[in-house]
Parts: sequence; structure tokens; C-alpha cells
Amino acid sequence: MSAIDPIISIEETRHLDSTLRPAHFSDYIGQETIKKNLHILLTAAKERGAPPEHILLYGPPGLGKTTLAHLIAKELNANLKVSSGPAIMKVGDLAAILTNLAPGDVLFIDEIHRLNKMIEEVLYPAMESGKLDIVIGKGPSARTIQLDLPPFTLIGATTRISLLSSPLRSRFSGGVYRLQYYTEDEIATIVKQSAKILGTLLPHDAAFEIAKRSRFTPRIANYYLKRARDYAQVHKANIDREIVDVSLSMLEIDEFGLGVAERMVLDALINTFNGGPVGLNTLAAATGEEEATIEDVTEPYLIQIGMLERTPRGRKATDKALTYFKK
Ligand SMILES: Nc1ncnc2c1ncn2[C@@H]1O[C@H](COP(=O)(O)OP(=O)(O)OP(=O)(O)O)[C@@H](O)[C@H]1O
Ligand SMILES: [Mg+2]
Repeated sequence: MSAIDPIISIEETRHLDSTLRPAHFSDYIGQETIKKNLHILLTAAKERGAPPEHILLYGPPGLGKTTLAHLIAKELNANLKVSSGPAIMKVGDLAAILTNLAPGDVLFIDEIHRLNKMIEEVLYPAMESGKLDIVIGKGPSARTIQLDLPPFTLIGATTRISLLSSPLRSRFSGGVYRLQYYTEDEIATIVKQSAKILGTLLPHDAAFEIAKRSRFTPRIANYYLKRARDYAQVHKANIDREIVDVSLSMLEIDEFGLGVAERMVLDALINTFNGGPVGLNTLAAATGEEEATIEDVTEPYLIQIGMLERTPRGRKATDKALTYFKK
């Protein structure tokens, strides 16, 4: 689990993701280019009877990287072993994971940008030629032994590809895939599918209302669906467009899908800094948000809907944002 959306807690995210995660590739909506490429990669590997080459998935939180890793393993009929950059603290941790792999296993390392340099260096030969170099002992009597690892596929996931060293990036010879934000239609299809899993009715216009406000992100859409379902249940009603509207208003999500965090950034930009341009660090200090959260989570949506611009001199509010704030 990487950079978490500020409105959804870590616990909630974990639970939500695992209940609503599609079990079949056919239920994985959108990301057509990635699916086509993976189809070729996986089919060819299966025909050769060898695991596919290593795959890197990157893109903003909640777009379906972990889900894709699960589906790839399933498609290959392989075991998925899950770890993450921050969990692998020592070279020994990585060695233990690698030596416990069975032939054909898929190893998923989430937040792979957080692996430290020393561990990366052990990972390179493991990825390239299936060799693990281990140093035994200390000082003058230390020696290196080399172990042969079973053939395996590494799937790395990251929200911050720029933090990945280029030697590591280049070892993902099965492909480096960037997940795209979804269209409203795709999100509507995803929430309809989720409603089915939850056993709740969701009319077409209610699905679109959720889609319109969910920042093109499946995790956020699923979260809003659950909140609308709770609201409907408490009021002994079925979800409709109005219930979506009321439940999202209670979460302070407006008609553009802007939440408290987005409005806070816009407010600071417009009212404190006269519309900008202003540097990211200043904006972070003024709003009390972390720079990384603004950069990875809050800002991309504001840029996409044309309310914020990144200029060489800093962040700027657009006319659309100024109009929005005058309302
Ligand atoms: N293409 C999709 N089709 C259907 N559901 C999806 C799709 N992509 C994501 N989801 C749903 O959205 C939720 C979040 O997806 P996932 O956990 O895979 O995101 P992630 O990219 O790994 O996020 P993070 O960077 O925070 O780890 C899951 O519940 C998943 O079911
Ligand atoms: Mg994930």
C-alpha cells in the first residue's frame, strides 16, 4: 500500500481494496493498452513454459497496480508472494524472500522505490541472471557464495517512478507500464460491478454521479459507493442519484469532485498567494500538507480538470479556479 488518499484511512483502504478487487482479467476495466501488451507477454511466456520477464507498474494511488499484479499471477496459475520496499530492510530479508521462491512464482514488491541501494544491488543479478550473491562471515575470512534461484517473475509497483534508479528501471525487461486515469464511463462500469459484488442496486445515473466526482480513480469511486450504500441503508432506501449527492455532500465532496484537500490548496493559492505562481514547498507549508501528497494526490486532479498549472516559477491557479472560488 503506497501513498494513501488523504480522505481514506489505511485500514479502510485495505479492506475496501480486497473486497472489491476483480477476480478475473475480464472484470479489470480499462487500461486497454496495458492489457493488450500483458496479454502478449503472458501468452508467449505460457507457450514457452517459462515465467515472463519482470514487470514494472507505475502510476498514482488507487488506479489498479496491486490488482493487476494479482491478476497476472492468476493468469499464469502462479503463486503470488507479496512484499514491499519498506518491509525489506536488510539484504538478509531480500535473500530470505528470494530463496523461498518456488519455480514460476510471482514476487510482487510494492513501493519498490523505497528499497535501499544495498538491497537494489543484490536484486540486480537476481533479476538479470537468477543469481543471488551472499556474503558469509565478516572481515578477512568473509567470502561470497552464489546461489542459483528458481526462475521467477518480479512485479514492481510504484507511485513515484522518478525515485527509481535507472539501473533498476532498466531491468524490468518485460515492460514498464504506466497506469492511466480512467474515463467517467469506465469508472461508472467499475462502480456498477462493485455494486453487484456488494449486492446493492445502483441505477445508471447514480453510477455516473459517483463517476463524475471520483477523480477518475477506482478506489475513490468504490469508497463513495460504500458511503452512499451506508446512507441508503440508514434511511431504509435504495441508492439513487439524490442519495449519492447527499452522501457526497456530507463528505464535503463538491460537484467537481473536489474534496477538502483540493479546496485547501486552491484556497491557499488564490487567497494567500494571489493566484500564484508559488513554489511547492511554500504551498505545502501554507496548507500543512506534505509536498509528496500535494504533488502525487491533490495536484494531478486539479491539473487534469484545468484548475491548476505547473509553471517553471511554481504553481498557478487558472481562470477556471478563480471563477470556481468566486461562487
Ligand atoms: N481496472 C479496474 N477495474 C476494476 N476495479 C479496479 C480497477 N483498478 C482498480 N480497481 C479497484 O480499485 C481499488 C484500488 O486498486 P489497487 O489497490 O489495485 O490500486 P493501486 O494502484 O495498487 O494503489 P496504491 O498505489 O495505493 O497501492 C481496488 O479495490 C480495485 O478493485
Ligand atoms: Mg497497491
